[in-house]
Amino acid sequence: MSNSKQERKQYGVKIIGVGSSVPPTVLSNDDMAKMVETTDEWIQTRTGIRSRHVLSGDEMLTDLGIEAAKQALVMAGIDGSDIDLIIVATTTPDERYPAMASRIQTAIGSTKSFGFDLALACTGFVAALITAEQFIRSGMAKKALVLGADAHSRVMDWSDRNTCVLFGDAAGAVVLEASEDFDGFLANDGNLDGSKADELHADYNLVNCPILPQPTPRNPYVQMNGREVFKFAVGVVPSSIRQTLENAGETLEDIDTLVLHQANIRIMDAMNERLGIPREKMVINLDKYGNTSAASVPLALDEAVRNGQIQNGNRVMTCGFGGGLAWASSYFIWSGPSFEKIAYIQPAQEGGRA
Ligand code: UT7
Repeated sequence: MSNSKQERKQYGVKIIGVGSSVPPTVLSNDDMAKMVETTDEWIQTRTGIRSRHVLSGDEMLTDLGIEAAKQALVMAGIDGSDIDLIIVATTTPDERYPAMASRIQTAIGSTKSFGFDLALACTGFVAALITAEQFIRSGMAKKALVLGADAHSRVMDWSDRNTCVLFGDAAGAVVLEASEDFDGFLANDGNLDGSKADELHADYNLVNCPILPQPTPRNPYVQMNGREVFKFAVGVVPSSIRQTLENAGETLEDIDTLVLHQANIRIMDAMNERLGIPREKMVINLDKYGNTSAASVPLALDEAVRNGQIQNGNRVMTCGFGGGLAWASSYFIWSGPSFEKIAYIQPAQEGGRA
């Protein structure tokens, strides 16, 4: 990927394909209750989650990413060889390096692309989407593949009920392309508050050169102050959505569908209370998959496109939030195909305690 001086002009950006993949193994809330002191009732009431998919045996997150990418390319009607930029948002890659983007590139038959991974936990996909949009807008890339992929089952303390019931594994992907006559990206907003980084983190266990003193062992698993992250989310998400709308010169009524990071049904209910966005306008699938971190927004987007909840021309607000602490929104017009509407039964409204 490279761009000449002549190409350095403003292009419009379209989002034209989406795909996703989850591993086949499902853990129900009752399965969780066999591992830690919890109940199906507690998990459903406090989070809205009923089950989650997790990797098993030699299954790899990269393979979920490849499947999601291939689906997105098919929907977009283009070949992997057309892609000139690949960005993968992940904090749980199968390998430290190469970047997962390298594996995805080879698997889809792309040879002329640039690519890299981006680590921003649950906000990673929206950050990658905003990044890819800038590459296309400037003429640096013409067709981009953006993935969100995470396997928190690999960095989970399976004896910690505060975290292990919440997360699941998945990958999602979208295809963006440059357009001379249409601009489908309306506005973005991105934020980071490093002073609150300790509220949600997963560390590496580090080793020094063997002849030197070793570092103090660290907890390599996800550690979260759930109550603080909850308060943070219900505060910053509405303001980020309002800021993005202001940047676009639009109002809350203009949003057709809200695709929020799927962390807790009570956070979605808070959006309903604070912004007046009805549940029918939200995509909710965390009951089936739990919190899939960087994969959650594209996984929800894919489901909503394929079940007809999002139609061509709809205005979609996405918002990710989590480790960093980071939060970001991207507002775009879905410019891929429309599918027939499937009657979708939303998860029951039980719980709803904020
Ligand atoms: O994706 C990144 C962004 N992450 C989030 O947005 C997560 C935000 N936080 C949350 O979703 C919620 O805070 C949680 C679902 C994590 C926790 O819900 P909560 O209503 O805030 O519960 P809590 O942490 O205040 O804990 C209440 C009680 C505690 O017991 P005590 O101290 O009151 O006796 C916990 O020990 O619930 C207990 N508890 C559990 N009980 C049964 C915590 N986890 C469990 C569990 N089963 N799995």
